[in-house]
Amino acid sequence: MLNSADAPSAHAKLNAWIDEIAALTKPAAIHWCDGSKEEFDRMCAEMVAAGTLIKLNEDKRPGSYLARSSPSDVARVEDRTYICSEREEDAGPTNNWMAPAEMRKTLSGLYDGCMQGRTMYVVPFSMGPLGSPIAHIGVQLTDSAYAAANMRIMTRMGSKVLDVLGADGAFVPCVHSVGAPLAAGEKDSVWPCNDEKYIVHYPETREIWSFGSGYGGNALLGKKCFALRIASAMARDEGWLAEHMLIVGLESPEGEKTYVAAAFPSACGKTNLAMLIPPAGFDGWKVWTVGDDIAWIKPGADGKLYAINPEYGYFGVAPGTSDKSNPSAMKALSKDCIYTNVALTDDKDVWWEDMSAAPAHAIDWKGNDWAPDSDTPAAHPNARFTAPASQCPSIDPNWEDPKGVPISAFIFGGRLSKTFPLAYQAFDWNHGVYMAATMGSEATAAAVGQAAIRRDPFAMLPFCGYNMGDYWQHWVDFGAKLSNPPAIFRVNWFRKDQNGKFMWPGFGQNMRVLKWIVDRVNGNGNAVESPIGLMPTHADITWNGLDYDKDTFEHLMEVDRAGAMADAEDQSELFGRFGDKLPAEMENQRQAQIKRLNDAPEIWRHKS
Ligand code: OXD
Ligand code: MN
Repeated sequence: MLNSADAPSAHAKLNAWIDEIAALTKPAAIHWCDGSKEEFDRMCAEMVAAGTLIKLNEDKRPGSYLARSSPSDVARVEDRTYICSEREEDAGPTNNWMAPAEMRKTLSGLYDGCMQGRTMYVVPFSMGPLGSPIAHIGVQLTDSAYAAANMRIMTRMGSKVLDVLGADGAFVPCVHSVGAPLAAGEKDSVWPCNDEKYIVHYPETREIWSFGSGYGGNALLGKKCFALRIASAMARDEGWLAEHMLIVGLESPEGEKTYVAAAFPSACGKTNLAMLIPPAGFDGWKVWTVGDDIAWIKPGADGKLYAINPEYGYFGVAPGTSDKSNPSAMKALSKDCIYTNVALTDDKDVWWEDMSAAPAHAIDWKGNDWAPDSDTPAAHPNARFTAPASQCPSIDPNWEDPKGVPISAFIFGGRLSKTFPLAYQAFDWNHGVYMAATMGSEATAAAVGQAAIRRDPFAMLPFCGYNMGDYWQHWVDFGAKLSNPPAIFRVNWFRKDQNGKFMWPGFGQNMRVLKWIVDRVNGNGNAVESPIGLMPTHADITWNGLDYDKDTFEHLMEVDRAGAMADAEDQSELFGRFGDKLPAEMENQRQAQIKRLNDAPEIWRHKS
């Protein structure tokens, strides 16, 4: 056996599993990752020699590299992502499903010899601070050095994890192959992958098998596959929450910190919100970043909810990130990062759309010459950076606290140009669950009077590892057990006026909404009752440093009955898909919403 007696772990089950996978995939060698900087540097140097990575300018981007993926391997592949529970109804209508036995048969053919000619890296990793009662361990076997190197940035990885695992600790087994075996003497491609892709989860046995892709969301298995799809199933069974949420600490000038967790679908500015810089007029306020994508939340003995960021780095979208939109992210990118599918400048720095003034010449993400008048973008729209979280200047001093940070509010948001006001609070927990279950973003500009919302419940549509109806019920049950559950809010930074102009300035100014939320949860913020929730009036928002017209604010907050009713009616299509898995409480909430709207004026507007 390749995983010989000198395997660095005494964990018999782990060693036996590695032997079994090696026997199936037939790698040329096995390397146990120790997680050291020397090992990372060595792997990167090997990838530079092979052409997979380009070393960036050491003065401008020390310790950093650029990878260009195959043009066919640039994003998550939702249509190739499976939840293989024993019963189809346990995966639910929003997931692809195949019976586990059938999937195992399909995969065993694909994995047979798939690592030939390659090294299999053994990557032990912890999602969450090592040894935290909220953290969990995984072990990824991968034939991609790119995946192994990125895992060192995105997770706590290496020998120290084996120490925590000991001889019999629990771990989630994760098998990853790019699916491109090498015959003897065959030259490798710079980005090996396979046209056939499978991203497979077995929620009952807590296993992940990913085949054919090197792209982060498909290949860094700690992230979406473990921390969301598998962990959501673990969380349901064990009474906690695994969510697609950022976590921030909002510190007042008096030094009081309130932590909130917020869920937004892709392309709604989650990383920007996680690293928000308070605007002029908020002297003494600070926003501290705990996490930008995933939250694991468990009830503490004191009845409060405690959250950790299970990740160790940021896998962020590069285009649009700039000193203007997110100066903290830009500082986090100053060194020791891996970039994928961004453009390379002539001085071997990186560039992407909206980062800064365009360079006169660059090499685009496909390796071609690029100039500002080129017809195609320099960076792929889903180009990414992998950056150590510790490099973020707003990183919360408590972000590695093993007991987590106490969560006082949940915030849910989408990108909606009409109907939905800037901010409102749920009347109670179950109303909040309904608000989150029905959230979404606009697919296109909707025709007048039509609700055209792409539903993304809890921003978990692609990430829930079981039936979404059961997930809503889990949230309802979870809240019922909490003596003092966090307040739940909806926000919408994207409402537009009749001329198609955004009504709210967004970015740092969103701090004004966060401050109202802090006031609400700390018992000193006012709200008035609207048909859809509790809303701030103009007087309840702190306006220091921003001249925002009261009349515009009242427009921004108005509820138009026809639009809100069309949305409530459209929700029945989503709810109908779940049959008897739909919690009765969700339909009760929808009916209550319809009743409140029936009783409301055509345009509900708070007049102070
Ligand atoms: C991500 C995503 O990459 O949500 O975080 O797709
Ligand atoms: Mn995400």
